[in-house]
Amino acid sequence: LRVEALQELQQVDNPQQLNDLRVKYLGKKGALTEILRGMGGLSAEERPVIGQVGNEVRAAIEGVIDEKQNAFLAAETENRLRAETIDVTLPGKALPTGAVHPLNKVAQEIEDVFVGLGYSIAEGPEVETDYFNFEALNLPKNHPARDMQDSFYITEDILMRTHTSPVQVRTMQQMNGKPIKVICPGKVYRRDDDDATHSFMFNQIEGLVVGPNIRMSDLKGTLLQFVQQMYGEQAQIRLRPSFFPFTEPSAEVDVTCVQCGGHGCRMCKQTGWLEILGCGMVHPRVLEMGGYDPKEVSGFAFGMGVERIALLKYGIDDIRHFYTNDQRFLSQFARM
Ligand code: PHE
Repeated sequence: LRVEALQELQQVDNPQQLNDLRVKYLGKKGALTEILRGMGGLSAEERPVIGQVGNEVRAAIEGVIDEKQNAFLAAETENRLRAETIDVTLPGKALPTGAVHPLNKVAQEIEDVFVGLGYSIAEGPEVETDYFNFEALNLPKNHPARDMQDSFYITEDILMRTHTSPVQVRTMQQMNGKPIKVICPGKVYRRDDDDATHSFMFNQIEGLVVGPNIRMSDLKGTLLQFVQQMYGEQAQIRLRPSFFPFTEPSAEVDVTCVQCGGHGCRMCKQTGWLEILGCGMVHPRVLEMGGYDPKEVSGFAFGMGVERIALLKYGIDDIRHFYTNDQRFLSQFARM
């Protein structure tokens, strides 16, 4: 039995087999146990002899089993350690990260230019009263120029703001006659059909400066400074006469084409110029309604669409790219 058991044990190569053999030989119904249990039928002389042999055999088998058991445990520990080894010299995995949306990025750049020129940033509600959005800007009810900015009305007197100019009116009323230098960024809404160049919602940044002796040349110098920081030192501007009810005189501003540098290309329709914003000297009636005396102070204002500035900066041909959030489009701006 001892020889047979030890031989079988030598061949064991996994813990399950080892346990089976332990049961087979040493278990309650095991071979050795059977023999020792049968000792009752032996004579008084035989009993101690067989008993001793039996115990020796048990000790021998147990010894081998323990040995094997320890070997299995050691191997298992070894395997686990090997599997859990970490190579700390391996390079890390690059996780995909988000990036600032191109519109927010350009808005941020525009704001940075004006903050650098000493402007503060003012914000106001997107749902506005007719008074702040139109009337206080010299656009009385039924004025035909209201057609320029068709609106989404909530009630007869409340609407989604069509520009951020109402924030400028609010600022004037809060500043109580003190000098002003603010930009007003934010979302604006118009009843336009969406196409490559129009969107029912877009982002504006408007500016307002009010104080003694503010002149048209200050406006022009400020806009030239802005354009050159945005599009490069070589960029030039030109002012074309225009009309806004809240400014007099009013102008539209063109920048030398960012694509061809003013020589003429498809982007500027061979003119060398691209229209980027509207501006003018604040209308005396608007100053008055804002609580300022037009005999003592003057002011200039300008307003631009962030989308338009971004389209020109990056040579994008369709405003809708900004809103459809195609990863392939957006990811191009991640490292710019
Ligand atoms: N509020 C005008 C618009 O949204 C832009 C503008 C602002 C024009 C200030 C002149 C002066 O169209």
